[in-house]
Amino acid sequence: MTGIRSHIAGIGTYLPARVMTNADMSEIVETSDTWIRERTGIAQRHIAADDEYTSDLAVEAARVAIAHAGKSIEDIDLIVVATATPDLTFPATATIVQNKLGIHHGAAFDVHAVCSGFLYALATADNFIKAGQATNALVIGAETFSRILDWTDRTTCVLFGDGAGAMVLSAQGEGEGLIRTHLRSDGQFCDLLYVDGGPSRTKTVGHLRMQGNQVFRHAVGKIAGSMQELADMAGIPISEIDWFVPHQANQRILEGVAKRLSIPVEKVISTVGRHGNTSAASIPLAFDAAVQDGRIKRGDLVLMEALGGGFTWGAALARY
Ligand code: ACO
Repeated sequence: MTGIRSHIAGIGTYLPARVMTNADMSEIVETSDTWIRERTGIAQRHIAADDEYTSDLAVEAARVAIAHAGKSIEDIDLIVVATATPDLTFPATATIVQNKLGIHHGAAFDVHAVCSGFLYALATADNFIKAGQATNALVIGAETFSRILDWTDRTTCVLFGDGAGAMVLSAQGEGEGLIRTHLRSDGQFCDLLYVDGGPSRTKTVGHLRMQGNQVFRHAVGKIAGSMQELADMAGIPISEIDWFVPHQANQRILEGVAKRLSIPVEKVISTVGRHGNTSAASIPLAFDAAVQDGRIKRGDLVLMEALGGGFTWGAALARY
């Protein structure tokens, strides 16, 4: 590989205007604010309007990220969208985003790794940049999970929300940027978290199904293992990392991982209370929140991590 590194040049996010609180949720299914907060840490989530699609959320986040990076649409030569809730079965949401942004050069495609999708997209774009095949990559996590929830199933519908987050990765020499990514998957767990529809098997979109306690059991160990492996490969002790930006599935998973690795909980960025689980969008949404409130600063070491359906999981270490 070259001495090129992918610098996180800009970041942007978008949340739909409609906020749905736990009280709103209790009017739809038999649940309570207390139950949801105690088991998950979630207080509210954003829900996309009927005429607001995953690509619309992605475009809003992308515009902010491009402006934050000080780039123009001419500079963007790669778009990778991580989503499990595409506008359509095909074409890729990334090409729809590309067109809505007015970009007609370069390449655009989706990656599908559910809640780990942003890490998979980040690793993919990073490798394009390191190989010299892209200069400014737009990496987006965007989801409208509200469309695939079974709104009669209280064990799942209370957990998720809609949103989008984007980063611009720019090629530069050694220094700041992505240090290393670490991706894993193991398809033997696909029945624990899946959507029961799809074009080939059912010709329908389907609804999310999950064995929550099983997912919980695997999440802490697998995520912590991946973070430790990545830190070891990078030769950077976990204790030297400034901030941890986890996929925002559940406050108890965040705290379980922190405890396993002796990470002070103050170093863990948590937005699950405000956003719920936004799947591939959750890492950039949390990262941006901490940049906006001044916790994550330029030069800080940041470790991102996730686990999602498949299972897929992994981590990414960056000097912001
Ligand atoms: N409101 C009220 N009661 C509920 C609700 C609800 N929304 N949902 C379930 N219950 C009830 C159940 O029916 C059950 O009642 P019972 O004892 O009478 O049968 C009771 O609460 C306990 O149910 P459990 O499923 O055992 O609850 P648990 O403590 O495991 O919490 C939860 C459920 C929050 C889903 C938990 O398992 C979890 O967080 N799992 C991780 C999965 C996750 O976050 N997945 C997100 C996608 S994957 C990812 O992003 C990593």
